[in-house]
Amino acid sequence: MNIALTAAEDRSYLVQSPAVAARFAALHARPVVLEAEHLGCEFDSERGRVTALHDLNVRVHRREFVCVIGPSGCGKSTFARVIAGLQPTTSGRILVDGRPVSGPGPDRGMVFQGYTLFPWLSLAQNVRFGLDMQGRAETQADREARQWLELVGLGKFADAYPHQLSGGMKQRVAIARALAAGPRILLMDEPFGALDPQTRAQMQAHLLEIWRNVDVTIVFITHDMDEAILLADRILVLKAHPGEVREFIEVPVPRPRSPAQFSTPEFEAVRRRIDALIHPAPEPGELARHEPLPIVRLTQAGDDVE
Ligand SMILES: Nc1ncnc2c1ncn2[C@@H]1O[C@H](COP(=O)(O)OP(=O)(O)O)[C@@H](O)[C@H]1O
Ligand SMILES: [Mg+2]
Repeated sequence: MNIALTAAEDRSYLVQSPAVAARFAALHARPVVLEAEHLGCEFDSERGRVTALHDLNVRVHRREFVCVIGPSGCGKSTFARVIAGLQPTTSGRILVDGRPVSGPGPDRGMVFQGYTLFPWLSLAQNVRFGLDMQGRAETQADREARQWLELVGLGKFADAYPHQLSGGMKQRVAIARALAAGPRILLMDEPFGALDPQTRAQMQAHLLEIWRNVDVTIVFITHDMDEAILLADRILVLKAHPGEVREFIEVPVPRPRSPAQFSTPEFEAVRRRIDALIHPAPEPGELARHEPLPIVRLTQAGDDVE
C-alpha cells in the first residue's frame, strides 16, 4: 500500500484476481432472490421518532452469501426482522423471488444469537418441527430431520436433548431446523455472537460447508469484520442514524476460505476499507472536538498524590 494514501482513498480492495472476477460475473448473472426497494423503517420511542432504516436499496442473488455489518444501533436487526416479515416497513418493500413480503413465511428461515430450541424435544424432534408444519408423513419427516442433522455433523445425536449439547452444537441444530423447512433465504442475526472464539471459528467453517451443500441464499448479520470477510461474497456496510447503505463491497478473497487468509493482502484491503467506512476520519473542522482537554492544576505544591 502506498502510505501517502489515506484509508478512505485506498482502493486496493477493488482489485480482483481473474478467478474472483469471473465468480462475481457468474453471481450477478444469477436470479435475484431478495430485493429491498426504497426500504424505510421508523419507530416511535420515548426519544421521539427513530429512523432505523432509510431508503435501503439492495439486490441479493440466488445462493449468494451476504454479510451485513455496521455499528451497534445502525438497523441490522431491524433489516433482518423486516426481511423475515416480523417487522412492518414504514416505506418501500421487500421482495422474495419477485413477490412482496407481507408477513413471515416458510421461504425465510431465521437463526438468532440466543438458542431457540425446545428443551423438551429431542434434536430430531426439534428439527422435525419445521417439517411437521408442512404436513409430512411421520416416518418421512423423521428421516428428513435425521438427514439435516447429518448435514450439520450431529447425526449421532439425533435422540439427544438440547441440555446435553454445547453452545456451538445447539446453534448447529438451530441451523438444521431452519434449513429443514426449505427456505430460499436463511437469515442469521449475530448467530455466533455468544460463542467462545474457538467454537465460533469452527461454526464459521461448518456454515461455509453447509452453504456449499444447500441451495440457499444467506443474509448473515455480524459486527465482526473478520467474520464478515471470511464468510461473505458481498458485505453490506450500513451507517447509523439512520441506517443507510455506505457500500456493498465485493470481497476479493478467493474461495475456499479459511482463517489462514486473514493476513493476505486481499483480506487486509477489505478490513481497511470497512474500518474506514465504519470509523471515518474526522472532517478538518471536527478535529477540535478531539483535542485533549486543557488540564488546570488545582493542587498546591506538597499535596501531590503519592
Ligand atoms: N421496537 C423498537 N422500538 C423503538 N426503537 C427501536 C425498536 N427496534 C429498534 N429500534 C431502534 O432502531 C435502531 C436500530 O436498531 P437495531 O436494528 O436493533 O440495530 P442493530 O441491530 O444494528 O444494533 C436503534 O436506534 C434502536 O434503538
Ligand atoms: Mg442487532
